[in-house]
Amino acid sequence: MITYNDTDLILAPCAGYTDAGMRTLCTRYGAGLCFTEMVSAKGLLYNNANTEALLTLSPEEKNTGVQLFGSEPDILAAAIQDERLKKFPVIDINMGCPVPKIVTNGEGSALMKDPDRIFRIVKAAKEAAGDRLLTVKMRAGFYSGYENAPECAAASEEAGADMVTVHGRTRDMYYSGKVDYGIIGKVKQAVKIPVCGNGDVIDRESYLKMKETTGVDYVSIARGAFGRPYVFAAIRGEEYDFNVKQAILEHISLLSFLPERTVANCMKKQIAFYIKGRRGHKEIKEAVFRASDMKELISVIDLIDF
Ligand SMILES: Cc1cc2nc3c(=O)[nH]c(=O)nc-3n(C[C@H](O)[C@H](O)[C@H](O)COP(=O)(O)O)c2cc1C
Repeated sequence: MITYNDTDLILAPCAGYTDAGMRTLCTRYGAGLCFTEMVSAKGLLYNNANTEALLTLSPEEKNTGVQLFGSEPDILAAAIQDERLKKFPVIDINMGCPVPKIVTNGEGSALMKDPDRIFRIVKAAKEAAGDRLLTVKMRAGFYSGYENAPECAAASEEAGADMVTVHGRTRDMYYSGKVDYGIIGKVKQAVKIPVCGNGDVIDRESYLKMKETTGVDYVSIARGAFGRPYVFAAIRGEEYDFNVKQAILEHISLLSFLPERTVANCMKKQIAFYIKGRRGHKEIKEAVFRASDMKELISVIDLIDF
């Protein structure tokens, strides 16, 4: 089993969100595996200042994988062999990011235009990973009308990947339009390694729909966990307590290894999700975004009474 906690539920990698705080809270509510935000393989090798923070784990995290992005097999392999990645039991390669800055470098979802390159990347990455698991995360395809995820997944499997995640949208769809369950099902048919289905899972009903219509082995959740770490317990059918203010304060304390200013900036977006749909959320959100430092932010959080 790739996941821990005896579950098929995974927290998907999300830049700007799946920090050590979110991952730890999701794990407490029963996520079986979590992923870091995507980390540049090149940035890691060149000791980019931001990389260190992205790789920091909370003391509770035993079930977190690191996601790397890059396009060159030897650079990805060198990053995987870096000492700082040795603590991660799973290494994931990003083949789904749709952002122009990444795609124009031939990284993220652009890799899906070249299954031969996918093969070379996964082969080099798997060799470098040694005993660690090597997974890939892709989309339905790069272009709508040319959904080649089954071919890309087969190339990954042949090169040694241990699991493939498919977000059922093409690159040109970004995050809109309907998830294509059919293509996720085709990937499941195309490979023998475990497949993780991803896209629009937000509760038990959508989780069951993903599992039953595609036959996937695992399900990963991204936006459905923003401000809702309890989504994992809810899907598992377990009872849970959740208090927004307590969760926000806990999230902040789990990020205490970061400079206060960074924590305040990271938390503003997270808080907007924690309070979404709750009484007075508009006013609280405005006050949160106006806060100029951590002290001010805490005084706004203090006013939350749910
Ligand atoms: C703000 C944001 C950041 C994301 N960052 C990443 C990332 O770093 N790596 C990645 O593979 N996918 C990333 N994704 C995509 C998600 O992992 C996921 O595939 C997508 O949101 C669909 O799943 P969902 O419907 O559960 O959100 C990101 C998505 C969002 C909304």
